[in-house]
Amino acid sequence: MDFKEKVAEIFTSIETELSMDDALSLIEIPPSQDMGDYAVPCFKFAKKYRKSPAVIASEIADKIGSIEEFEKVESAGPYVNFFVDKKHFAEKILKQAYAEKENYGSTNVGEGKNVIVEFSSPNIAKPFHIGHIRTTIIGNSIYKIYKYLGYNTISINHLGDYGTQFGMLISAYKKWGSPEVVEAIEKNPIKELLKLYVRYNKEIETHPEYQDEARYWFKELENGNEEAHKLWTWFREVSLKEFNRVYDMLNVKFDSYAGESFYSDKMPAVIDELDDKGLLKDSEGAKIVELQQYGLTDAVIQKSDGSTLYVTRDIAAAMYRKKTYDFYKNIYVVGAPQKLHFEQWKKIIELMGYDWAENCVHVMFGTVSLEDGVLSTRKGRVVFLEDVLKKAIERTTEIINERNTDLENKEEVAKQVGIGAVIFQELFNNRIKDYTFSWEKTLSFEGETGPYVQYTYARTCSLLRKGDIEVDDDVDYSVLTDKESFNVIKKLEGFKAAVLGAHDKYEPFFITRYIVGLAQEFNRFYHECPIVVEDIEVRKARLLLTKAVNTVLKKGMELLGMETPERM
Ligand code: ARG
Repeated sequence: MDFKEKVAEIFTSIETELSMDDALSLIEIPPSQDMGDYAVPCFKFAKKYRKSPAVIASEIADKIGSIEEFEKVESAGPYVNFFVDKKHFAEKILKQAYAEKENYGSTNVGEGKNVIVEFSSPNIAKPFHIGHIRTTIIGNSIYKIYKYLGYNTISINHLGDYGTQFGMLISAYKKWGSPEVVEAIEKNPIKELLKLYVRYNKEIETHPEYQDEARYWFKELENGNEEAHKLWTWFREVSLKEFNRVYDMLNVKFDSYAGESFYSDKMPAVIDELDDKGLLKDSEGAKIVELQQYGLTDAVIQKSDGSTLYVTRDIAAAMYRKKTYDFYKNIYVVGAPQKLHFEQWKKIIELMGYDWAENCVHVMFGTVSLEDGVLSTRKGRVVFLEDVLKKAIERTTEIINERNTDLENKEEVAKQVGIGAVIFQELFNNRIKDYTFSWEKTLSFEGETGPYVQYTYARTCSLLRKGDIEVDDDVDYSVLTDKESFNVIKKLEGFKAAVLGAHDKYEPFFITRYIVGLAQEFNRFYHECPIVVEDIEVRKARLLLTKAVNTVLKKGMELLGMETPERM
């Protein structure tokens, strides 16, 4: 039982009509330390007792009297304030952290439940640009958080490897593909394929028939035409090779790459089922599901030439996933511009009579822009994610060279810190917020940044090395009752809540904010309380605290997808 629960328990033993849940939701954290660590407002009871909240608070405080876990319980105006006993608190939290090690922030909420986290899902033959950074990093973190909480997690990359743009590419290649073009594509797949795509789109302006040719080739691809299929396979392979370089840098792994094309043979069954359930309407030769009565626009399921659409493939994918994984939750980490798409899709699944539609969640996020303007593929304003990561590593190498020239594995550390900085910055804010990517902010080693947290972690590693004793939990906890130690321990107590909050709201930034706060508290402690000191009792106690911070910082960074270098 944690201290907040203890407060609720004490309170309900006096206010017996109050449930544990109600008591828990009443408890507040006072804004300043001299008002205690937990406070319960008594306004709620004024009506029942026909007394002022202040009188009630004082009577309740008297009834509570003295309790082992608390230094004192007293009323202040309408509040009953609880002051935890610092020694008791230190012992309780640090013993638990010591015993549970890297599981200290976990619970078993996920046991026996399958959760799919779909993320990244770039489009083949199109740039993997800074815009994709968000789904990849947010999704990877959500995947790790769910895994940590005991869910059986499946990461899926729903590649955009199907659709009319492939008709364009095939047609373009058939027109302009030469041995030189082949060589260029092999060398630089995405950039070259993009060139073909852009040229094709441009030439449509003067050759409108190219539009039909592209449609024709996509239809041929769907029909299994061998030449079309061979070209498509090649485009897909070379693109994937390039994406995988980025995934390797970010240390991201997928359990499945079943993308849009994977569902091409599962589409007829979906269309039949929609038809059988009376959901399909004809509209100028196309088949649609009417959704206007639900405040949405109608969804086209099949074009008049028989080819299918993005939403059709998403319906097939959801049904396949339910059948294959029997998911408890099916999470889609995709940008806010696709909100309408996911609303239509979910409504259609609901109309098909599947109650598991409610377990499908669109986790959306805002747009990234650059300091000097917005991104635009068409205008060539593309920043490739790989270039961003490489530049982050280069800048970090420069900084390391300026500061600390005798670091051993400099290259490795530069990579861990540079990429860690990008990840941290990405996960620093609430995901819905649009944001502007800033090199300056990302690569600062000061303040609330990734390198700052990594640096603090490396500091704890170095202290533990220097401390030179086997840390255990048999220490004198009264050493840890000063203000700085107490504040670190209070932070440590909040780890589980941060992880659970991130899980409930699909918001990794709860953890980002949490670990930076922990790092700041630890650094305050470090400056006020010398750790590796002669007095062995003091040294042992402070090293135990350092050890707990070390474990939690490491786990926190891992949950965000960051690496944790031990020396910096
Ligand atoms: N490939 C799409 C894009 O880059 C994202 C796919 C999202 N996932 C989905 N199941 N629709 O815009």
